[in-house]
Amino acid sequence: MLKYDPAVFAVGDTYEIMVMVTKPSLMWVRIGEKTYFDETCGILRSNREVHRMTVPADELNAAGGYTLCERELIRRQAYRTTSEAVREYPFIFHPVKDGEIRFFHIADTHSLSREPIRAAGAFGRMDFLILNGDLLDHCENAEDFGIVYEIAGEITHGGIPVVFSRGNHDMRGANTEIFPDYTPGRAGKTYYTFRLGPVWGMVLDCGEDKADDHAEYGHTICCHPFRMQQTEFIREVIENAEKEYRAESVRVRLIISHIPFTHNMGGEFEIERAIYDQWAELIGERIQPHLMVQGHLHRLSVNLPGSAFDSYGIQPCPVVIASQLEGKAFAGAGFILRPGKIRVEGVTDEGGRVLEQELDADV
Ligand SMILES: [Fe+2]
Repeated sequence: MLKYDPAVFAVGDTYEIMVMVTKPSLMWVRIGEKTYFDETCGILRSNREVHRMTVPADELNAAGGYTLCERELIRRQAYRTTSEAVREYPFIFHPVKDGEIRFFHIADTHSLSREPIRAAGAFGRMDFLILNGDLLDHCENAEDFGIVYEIAGEITHGGIPVVFSRGNHDMRGANTEIFPDYTPGRAGKTYYTFRLGPVWGMVLDCGEDKADDHAEYGHTICCHPFRMQQTEFIREVIENAEKEYRAESVRVRLIISHIPFTHNMGGEFEIERAIYDQWAELIGERIQPHLMVQGHLHRLSVNLPGSAFDSYGIQPCPVVIASQLEGKAFAGAGFILRPGKIRVEGVTDEGGRVLEQELDADV
């Protein structure tokens, strides 16, 4: 049985349709005449609580829907595995189209689910959802990922795309190395580009928020080389610009990361300045994004280049810190893109607006 509705994650030129289940099962999706299994080298997977079916984005966009198929296992064995009859669940899917674009951003829920779901509902119609890290407090077992699938499933009902990015708390816990198995990513990597109609985006992953040798991590972290890999990744994206952010019909360019890496985080949290400066320079000179959307600070703010928030004068575009958490009071940020304007609305879990700001932008 499905624990929550599916999440349709945008990764590269695919969607990863991911579904949490309550019992071991086999799963696949049908789009038109084609079938996409959750499999590894020809074997249908059943030993994980979350299924993943990777499908070409173009196909799902054109079809406007998919059928999720599940066969619950009775007993998996070497010969004559037994299972229940196939259950089918049809889902309508709405790809992002040109025109007014609306999306909602959630980060730093730290295991709260009802509050961000209510805030997203209060924003109203959206074309896609961004989940930008620290939805979990830490990761001990597969159950902990329920928060991701509860939030994504209840807001999108498998009917619109979701962009996912990892936060520093997602790296903590006795069993956090399983994270890539339970979340979307490009060949197991938590940084990648995505494309949603006229919107192109790049997800970057700053990793932990302190130096690798910090006592808190007990020798378990190697984010420095991981960040250096991403400098190379940004260069590859730039080399491939014509197929990425300069592709015909791309109208909006977004950078998504959990930690606002152009900002001076202060004290032991101010790390990797040389790498982050280089990211900002490459992004600013070549990609020229319209927005960077980030979390981590547990507050809502819109920060222009040259403002006090732009500590080193390296911000390539406005930075929106788009999620607030005070106790159990949560607010996410809704974005509305109309010709020449980006409107940002901070929306509380009670439906109030705690921030309303409009930016001029070439969108
Ligand atoms: Fe964080």
